[in-house]
Amino acid sequence: KKEIRIGLFGFGCVGQGLYDVLNESRGIRAEIRKIAVKHADKPRKLPAHFFTTDADEILDDPEINLIVELINDPDAAFDIVSRALRSGKDVVSANKKMIAEHLPELYELQKQYGTSLLYEASSCGSIPIIRTLEEYYDNELLFGVSGIFNGSSNYILTKVYQEGSTYEAALRQAQELGFAETDPTLDVGGFDPLYKLCIITAHSYGTFIKPEEVFNFGIQSLAAQDIRYAKEKGCKIKLVCTVRKLNGSCFTLFVMPQLVRSDDPLFLVDRENNGVVVEAAFSDKQFFQGKGAGGHPTGSAVLSDISASTYEYRYEYKKIAQNEGLEYTRDVNLEV
Ligand code: HSE
Repeated sequence: KKEIRIGLFGFGCVGQGLYDVLNESRGIRAEIRKIAVKHADKPRKLPAHFFTTDADEILDDPEINLIVELINDPDAAFDIVSRALRSGKDVVSANKKMIAEHLPELYELQKQYGTSLLYEASSCGSIPIIRTLEEYYDNELLFGVSGIFNGSSNYILTKVYQEGSTYEAALRQAQELGFAETDPTLDVGGFDPLYKLCIITAHSYGTFIKPEEVFNFGIQSLAAQDIRYAKEKGCKIKLVCTVRKLNGSCFTLFVMPQLVRSDDPLFLVDRENNGVVVEAAFSDKQFFQGKGAGGHPTGSAVLSDISASTYEYRYEYKKIAQNEGLEYTRDVNLEV
């Protein structure tokens, strides 16, 4: 197994979560060497010599062989990640917006430089959904993937409509608990789950879809009467992401609040949990559930990528090779 010497970018909620889970883990040959942060003088739980504000100090350090990118800013993240991949360093990232927007370039960079980018933590927190799709499902046999991909909005829906909280208080709690994005519009407007859906689509159908081409609608305009109606029908409203095949040559994807019936596995996915339903020809429906947000659950997904780096695991993007002309359409009425 390869010994991993990590240069970490970002020490926020997920960065600190990773530090904790790495500390608790035995048997992983990985250590954090240096951490790049914006402000060097904040009080932190590690000694000052771990921190730097100079990205070059990490990226140019020949001893560091894995960059773990956990910062907020997607543009700065893309600069760091692409530079690292070009300079021969493998990368682990949790940055869903950056990955969803740049996946074609990141895929090419990996091929060109023989380096690897893993991003299990970018989608559905602790649920190992990317690796699952990458390993098990043949494009031909996969009917669709759907689920709850945003912990904050699911937390808000649970608190407001099942536990009687106000929208503002529930959102504040989601922020305090470290579930929500710095700009929570990304959560409640359905953008964060859209980025995850684009990533999941690439690993489901081998097609890179630009987030701006996809229909997304969030939870912010749900009204009390929508919830009353759902309750009357014995249903719940959940923010559901869907990618599915429509006919032999097309597939569609979208994010929007939907009525979920009590016999649907997503019905019981509450609070910050995420749930994913994968439907395929022979395996039928499979359901994955786990914590979709928060420092430790997300940190555990980053750790699984770090661990995978010790045995030089890489995504093979098998679906890209399997994809024979399957096209994205926004026209959901094409269904046959
Ligand atoms: N803001 C995200 C969520 C964090 O609530 O799901 C995890 O990606």
